Amino acid sequence: MSRIVYVNGEYLPEEEAKISVFDRGFLFADGVYEVTSVLQGRLVDNAGHLARLHRSLSELEMDAPASDAGIEAIQNSLIERNGVQEGLVYLQVTRGAADRDFAYPEGVRPSLVMFTQVKNLLQSPQAERGISVITTRDIRWKRRDIKTVGLLAPSMAKMIAKRAGADDAWLVEYGQVTEGSSNNAYIVTRNGTLVTRQLGNEILAGITRKAVLELARTSDLKIEERAFTVQEATDAAEAFITSATTFVMPVVSIDGQPVGDGRPGPVTRRLRELYIRTALQEIEP
Ligand code: PDD
Repeated sequence: MSRIVYVNGEYLPEEEAKISVFDRGFLFADGVYEVTSVLQGRLVDNAGHLARLHRSLSELEMDAPASDAGIEAIQNSLIERNGVQEGLVYLQVTRGAADRDFAYPEGVRPSLVMFTQVKNLLQSPQAERGISVITTRDIRWKRRDIKTVGLLAPSMAKMIAKRAGADDAWLVEYGQVTEGSSNNAYIVTRNGTLVTRQLGNEILAGITRKAVLELARTSDLKIEERAFTVQEATDAAEAFITSATTFVMPVVSIDGQPVGDGRPGPVTRRLRELYIRTALQEIEP
């Protein structure tokens, strides 16, 4: 059965959904997006995702296509129409359709597209086993804090990982890890300190990152928000990534070298458990 997707005011079967060839998302990657996870048919941490959407929009001088309540109503309607219990809602705002011109056009209506994807988030073999990453040069642009749909560099990084037989890539700039191709990167040092890159233009301010750091703080973990090198990562006791679709996911090998004993570590497992427990508590009706 085909999915129902949302396109500019209409709920349509996916085969019938259409966007203009002049849409600036298509021509210039002039658009931003958010991915919110769904557990038990409910949106997880959606307020954070909508807040970041507004920030991305304002950095690009783009108008919001609807109010937050309006956007959330569409997200919930799609979850219901498609019967999604576990998975994600993808939402994309582009500047809209106009004759091709590099300068932002005036008076154009932003375009809003949303769809759902079913995905097992809680019971994941990868979370049990941990994932492998390789490191590769971060060739992305310099405003990675804006969640744009310009995702070719991370796609290339994922392909480098795939061809090397790894699950994902960590991106490296000036010898230091910025983040994962579509997630934030963390290590736990041998003395138990949680280290993750500080916020700035170099990385995306993950909504899961924020929640996980709060949980780490309340668990009295020592936290350092700073850059770390690949060497520090391979020497670490544990490593993991976070994102809306992976929650907290252990990284058990980096560039073919095992991290710690090559199995998901205790701090990582505890943070995953805490994150999931808190998310489930927050969506309770
Ligand atoms: N990616 N860093 C990058 C480059 C990302 O693309 C993402 C999310 C994150 C984590 O952010 P959050 O915790 O808010 O999901 C960090 C999404 C899931 C994606 O592109 O599919």
